[in-house]
Amino acid sequence: MYVHNDVPEEKQEEKKLEVVVNEAKSSAVPITVGHCRKECKATCAKSVWTVGFSESIREKCKELILDREAVQEVMQRLLDHIERGLKKDTQESSTVKSYVTFVQDFPNGSEQGKFLALDLGGTNFRVLLIELGVNHFEMKSKIFAVPQHIMLGSGEQLFDHIADCMAQFMKEEKLIKEHLPLGFTFSFPLKQLGLTKGILINWTKGFNCSGVIGNDVVQLLKDAIARRGELELSVMGILNDTAGTLMSCAWKKQNCKIGLIIGTGCNACYVEEQKNAEFFNEPNHGSDHVVINTEWGAFGNDGCLDFIRTAYDRDVDENSINPGGQIQEKMVSGMYMGELVRLALEQYTKEGLLFGGKGSELLSTRGRFYTKYVSEIEAEPLGVHTGCMEVLKELGLKHASEQDCVNVRYVCECVSTRAATLVSCALATILNKMNNMDVTIGVDGSVYRFHPHFHNRMMELIRQYTKPHINFELMLSEDGSGRGAALVAAVASRVKS
Ligand code: BGC
Repeated sequence: MYVHNDVPEEKQEEKKLEVVVNEAKSSAVPITVGHCRKECKATCAKSVWTVGFSESIREKCKELILDREAVQEVMQRLLDHIERGLKKDTQESSTVKSYVTFVQDFPNGSEQGKFLALDLGGTNFRVLLIELGVNHFEMKSKIFAVPQHIMLGSGEQLFDHIADCMAQFMKEEKLIKEHLPLGFTFSFPLKQLGLTKGILINWTKGFNCSGVIGNDVVQLLKDAIARRGELELSVMGILNDTAGTLMSCAWKKQNCKIGLIIGTGCNACYVEEQKNAEFFNEPNHGSDHVVINTEWGAFGNDGCLDFIRTAYDRDVDENSINPGGQIQEKMVSGMYMGELVRLALEQYTKEGLLFGGKGSELLSTRGRFYTKYVSEIEAEPLGVHTGCMEVLKELGLKHASEQDCVNVRYVCECVSTRAATLVSCALATILNKMNNMDVTIGVDGSVYRFHPHFHNRMMELIRQYTKPHINFELMLSEDGSGRGAALVAAVASRVKS
């Protein structure tokens, strides 16, 4: 029985009930419903869609719904970009760079020892201490904020901050004298030249530290450690959070071949045959495979997704700190989803279709409709609008009616389902390309974790777009990026010795 990993058993029962009730009520299911091939019909047989939204809103939202033809076109273009990304002659012209990660060995359960891991990729930075034994895993971690002035400051400031946080953690854990192997999860586009050498290509997700692009971030970390003194560490590997997620799930399930993040950013990595990865020039340790970090968030940077982009997508992009970059990510990930909804709501209000045509200052304020609102609104049972009313009140829209709530929920559903569709068709592209019979996909990220229907929608959609003989499973990765870093360090130490 497939288990939605972050939903406790008793909650799954609740979900089942919710599904049945909605099935009877729903007349407005704009996507075809498919079943995954695992026995998961109870949890993923039907989408939850609101009913009773206004015809005018349905008309407006049509542009947010991707039909089969559009999805097929997106899949073909993505495959072309991934394939071009893998080849020396064509990588430059591709928006999906498909970087080799130099992760080619997977945990086999025999890794042992104490490892330190760093995880940088969003507004928080984490330091972790991980102890591995045979089938044993223990972890302690501490979260540090990365303040805005550091996200936008100099590279030196950023890496000094990281070294300071590490020292603080090691002191608290009485590790300062220990010479520990370190794994570094750095979740930005890196051109890797080895397991411990990665050149930053560009920043994403609101970071823009000067003096880092074009440099080896492992060296920048080592320099900061040396500047600070006191710490003794050996950097054993640098990796992307998708690779960390893949590693941490592969530790439990050997058929885990894809790592996916749908959080502040969006990206996936997968296991490719070394012969297809032209940039991989390391000795083959025997696996014949290497993990490829697709960096698919940049898909569309050349305009190839313009045929499905809306005015809201263009607005989000133009007002970001990296216009023209991360086009697919901006249609999908948690950093932008709330803003897309806000822009649509603002527009519909101007057109007199919502809130009696009367908006509010906050509704017109950039970034003020948080992505968590989308999850909160869609989590309510159909017909209940208490949470939605609360959100609208918070935004100064006390005058919102019940009908407005139904409409707002529908807009949220359209935006989040489009995100789920784009991620699912991208995953299906990779699954079809790999053509393995049974693949586990390790997944992490706030959108996947906290959106109440994202998992179910993905299960339906991936099934629709994937060749029928391919079985797949989505596995929530617990702390993937941190654990994965320790596992990469552990595997590298094992292979070395
Ligand atoms: C980064 C990726 C990362 C993803 C998820 C993107 O913005 O470019 O490297 O994997 O976010 O964190």
